[in-house]
Amino acid sequence: MEKTLVLVKPDAFKAHHTGDIVKRYEDEGLQLLAMRMMKMTKEVAAKHYEEHIGRPYYGELETFMTSGPIVAMVLAGEGAIAKVREINGKTDPAEAAEGTIRKLYAASKGENAVHASDSPESAAREIHIFFNETEIFD
Ligand code: PPS
Repeated sequence: MEKTLVLVKPDAFKAHHTGDIVKRYEDEGLQLLAMRMMKMTKEVAAKHYEEHIGRPYYGELETFMTSGPIVAMVLAGEGAIAKVREINGKTDPAEAAEGTIRKLYAASKGENAVHASDSPESAAREIHIFFNETEIFD
């Protein structure tokens, strides 16, 4: 089974959408292997978004992601990476399909409710920023 990392971002957490988001993934057949509520530090943001450091929006992204609690989780299932990204919808909610999490809950390209790994390599890297092996109920 493929694994992926999902973050419920501060905007969706603050708006009380965490439960609906987790339920949506479970309803779509994804299995929850790990989950943690936390506040992202600047150091964790820099690790997680390492390929975005230096981009014009990085400061805004860092400020937003460290602004309040997030919920990190590992989801698993057949084709989990693509499946979760389809459920989430496009990065920019204005372009996201009807019924996707970002269409339902996101306000902008930055404040866009959820993050999900985009490849098996990112998933392996990102999962271990937030969880160690003993915390993943595989
Ligand atoms: S790229 O170039 O395709 O990798 O970028 P993209 O997928 O569009 O966005 C990557 C992540 O950066 C966030 N982002 C922003 N944050 C704040 N402000 C602005 N303007 C902005 N533009 C993009 C975006 O939400 C993506 O975060 P994740 O967590 O990966 O979804």
